[in-house]
Amino acid sequence: MTKRFETDVIHHGYDSKEHFDSLSTPIYQTSTYTFANAEQGEKRFAGEDDGFIYSRLGNPTVRHLEERIANLENAEAGLAFSSGMAAVSATLIALTKANDHILCSQGLYGCTFGLLELMREKYNIQSDYSLMESEDVLRKQIKDDTSLIYVETPINPTMKIIDLEMVARVAKEFNIPVVVDNTFSSPYLQRPIDLGCDIVLHSATKYIGGHGDIVAGLLVGKEDFISEVAMTTQKDIGGILSPFDAWLLLRGLKTLPIRMDRHSLNAEKVVEQLKQHPKIKSVHYPFDKNNPDYEVAKKQMKLGAGVIAFEVEGGKEEAQAFLNRLSFIKLAVSLGDAESIIQHPATMTHAVVPEENRLSMGITDSLIRMSCGLEAWEDIWNDLKQGLDQM
Ligand SMILES: Cc1ncc(COP(=O)(O)O)c(C=O)c1O
Repeated sequence: MTKRFETDVIHHGYDSKEHFDSLSTPIYQTSTYTFANAEQGEKRFAGEDDGFIYSRLGNPTVRHLEERIANLENAEAGLAFSSGMAAVSATLIALTKANDHILCSQGLYGCTFGLLELMREKYNIQSDYSLMESEDVLRKQIKDDTSLIYVETPINPTMKIIDLEMVARVAKEFNIPVVVDNTFSSPYLQRPIDLGCDIVLHSATKYIGGHGDIVAGLLVGKEDFISEVAMTTQKDIGGILSPFDAWLLLRGLKTLPIRMDRHSLNAEKVVEQLKQHPKIKSVHYPFDKNNPDYEVAKKQMKLGAGVIAFEVEGGKEEAQAFLNRLSFIKLAVSLGDAESIIQHPATMTHAVVPEENRLSMGITDSLIRMSCGLEAWEDIWNDLKQGLDQM
């Protein structure tokens, strides 16, 4: 029987009868697995016996999480990593060879940008950045040696939106995969595979974990691709997730829909208020009706999620002074937690991006990124307001 998303986040792929009737998935805290005899060991290594071998190659708690995230993203298979960047790097290395080209969205998480620069220096893998505003623009930017299209949407931290259906349609003409970093939406709000994209990854540190207590990454896609990554760039580079962290993610997933509803509602309310404050220059939020990307956001996202970007009057000094005046909103770099979290991308998450690229991505010195937490929206707004009123 097909279940709805809200049921699958809690039940998919788990049968308590297989685990001594334990309601909660057990944590298989083991590094290795015993073989009944030498012949069984040989068969496991030959892939003729399904049993586990060693926890870098697979673990029952982690496997359960991988099956669940694949189901939630409507993908064939999933793989869990020790960080979002482990998932990003394993994917990019698996899909490229020296001298290839990657086409990226104009705006990426700072460390993803840093990794692409490293790949440029070491392996001459070139990357270009695009707003992907139309099919024609995209067709012109795809080269003979383009091996993949890499998209963040909403883009971190400017909240620009890329039309995933359109990108997937054009990529199919050229037979190249589209990889989507779905961190800012979570599968509850946006499912890129349903829109024709091929591979989806997450910094599960954010909404999927949801409680600010794990660093983790997730990857989903076709069975063939996921097995290839599992047996190459994950097995041999080794960025695997621990069973305990997998368990925390399974726990976080159970409340993902209700958390995302609340994050989104809080963000919508705070955006309405921010737009009216005289010290605010601009506000960027996918589900703001004045946002030029609003129609595309509505088409592919269920709600706008919890992250807002806004520019305050003045420059870096004014932005930092504002941040220093906040009371319970935490000054920290992450997002998707119960706590509201705020940061200054130009000097924090995107400090590694050279100024010229940073400005072309819309990351000015007065831009601030805030992740609306699960607190009462009135309290979040009051804290922001007292900081703005003193400017
Ligand atoms: C959009 C996005 N992708 C990837 C990452 C990297 O994830 P992690 O910090 O879990 O390695 C981040 C981290 O902030 C992010 O915001």
